[in-house]
Amino acid sequence: MHAVDTVQTDRLLAERLRPADFDDLCRLHRDPRVMATLAPAGHPTGGVLTDEETGQFLRRNLAHWDRHGYGLWAVRDRRDGRFVGRGGLRRVQIGDHEEVELGYALMADAWGRGLATELARAAVRVGFERLGLADIVCFTLTTNRASQRVMEKAGFRYERDLTHAGLPHRFYRLTAAQWRRDRAAGERAPAPP
Ligand SMILES: CC(C)(COP(=O)(O)OP(=O)(O)OC[C@H]1O[C@@H](n2cnc3c(N)ncnc32)[C@H](O)[C@@H]1OP(=O)(O)O)[C@@H](O)C(=O)NCCC(=O)NCCS
Repeated sequence: MHAVDTVQTDRLLAERLRPADFDDLCRLHRDPRVMATLAPAGHPTGGVLTDEETGQFLRRNLAHWDRHGYGLWAVRDRRDGRFVGRGGLRRVQIGDHEEVELGYALMADAWGRGLATELARAAVRVGFERLGLADIVCFTLTTNRASQRVMEKAGFRYERDLTHAGLPHRFYRLTAAQWRRDRAAGERAPAPP
């Protein structure tokens, strides 16, 4: 198995997306609470995805893995295997630039326990240590404070505001050099009491 196909954290097991993840993804994408901050403006179903749209999403993301050797993981609770959500690294076109984006979306009953931050930190580490990326970007709606907080906790720096899919977004970036400096500083800092 390729080195980035599987990632473990304290509480999560993230595995390369597979066709068998379809049903879990449909449950995630049918939830208006999850999709309210994800779907592009003017989406005909008001944010949630039909199962057919989730099928297209899955095929696109399986193709991304085949083409680039990394992509989104299906994320599960390590204790009981319950589906927690999806997240990972994907190429994305921002204006004239191709960037590698960190993305994540968790089932609503998993929110508020620091799981997105745990996943984001693991994904960043994979990006810099195993894939050798120079930088990773992350962006979210200006109103999505929870996601902005996740980005900040994972070390991302605010770069600019931009319009993406016709909506105002906050755009963040983390370079490999910043990440290494932050880690070195963290290791030097005294342990909390
Ligand atoms: C955004 C999302 C991934 C966060 O997941 P999570 O596991 O709850 O995130 P974490 O617990 O790791 O961290 C959330 C942080 O945001 C904070 N937060 C949550 N809601 C907030 C709000 N309305 N305003 C300000 N901060 C908020 C939390 O307090 C926490 O910060 P803290 O640790 O400093 O207290 C989850 O809500 C989700 O999947 N939403 C739908 C999809 C989505 O928006 N994905 C991101 C698209 S870019």
